[in-house]
Amino acid sequence: MDRFVNIALPKGRLGEKVYDIFEKAGWECPSIKEPNRKLIFENAEKQIRYFWVKPSDVAIYVERGAADIGVAGKDILLEYEPDVFELLDLGIGKCRMAVAGPVSFRDDCTRTLTVATKFSNIAANYYNSKGRDIDIIHLNGSIEIAPILGLSDVIVDIVETGATLKENNLEVLETIVPISARLIANKASFRFKSEKIEKITESISEEIK
Ligand code: PRP
Repeated sequence: MDRFVNIALPKGRLGEKVYDIFEKAGWECPSIKEPNRKLIFENAEKQIRYFWVKPSDVAIYVERGAADIGVAGKDILLEYEPDVFELLDLGIGKCRMAVAGPVSFRDDCTRTLTVATKFSNIAANYYNSKGRDIDIIHLNGSIEIAPILGLSDVIVDIVETGATLKENNLEVLETIVPISARLIANKASFRFKSEKIEKITESISEEIK
């Protein structure tokens, strides 16, 4: 069996913060900082291997065991419901999942509400729990445009600073759930590489205290 622990990091700004935490916790891999476009890096002495993947793909790599552990946003975990263990809240990448709409929006409960979102499952679960009938319009980005152009009544999307909403005359109508980055593990890896994964988890937990 591969004795290395394979770690999927979300490519981008959040991923760099995540790597810094791993590095400070004693799981450094200096070659990752070299200016090139490589995607896989290892530290043979520590027997760890990092790879950069699209943030929304981390959970797939971990669920299928291509990565033993990884860091994914709670938004992705709620949306795709991957069969993985959630080990730790890293307390970074904080934002919230919210319903937003035009400042003047009032819900008319006699009509089906149209909701534009990248997070169809989260939106469906949320409105289902409220017993509100909705029609979901699945989009892949720039969700804020939908209510402005009349494509939808409201949106379900991530709000971080709120600047995007404000600059488009939209506002948060309801907060669905707070979001942050989570350390996740493949279920089989967690059993077979338990000692090492627990060591990593503990050192990171210490580091973010
Ligand atoms: C996300 C989200 C909002 C924005 C919120 O978009 O979908 O558009 O960030 O951030 P704010 O509250 O700080 O303005 P992202 O940049 O991920 O691009 P997207 O259009 O592909 O969703």
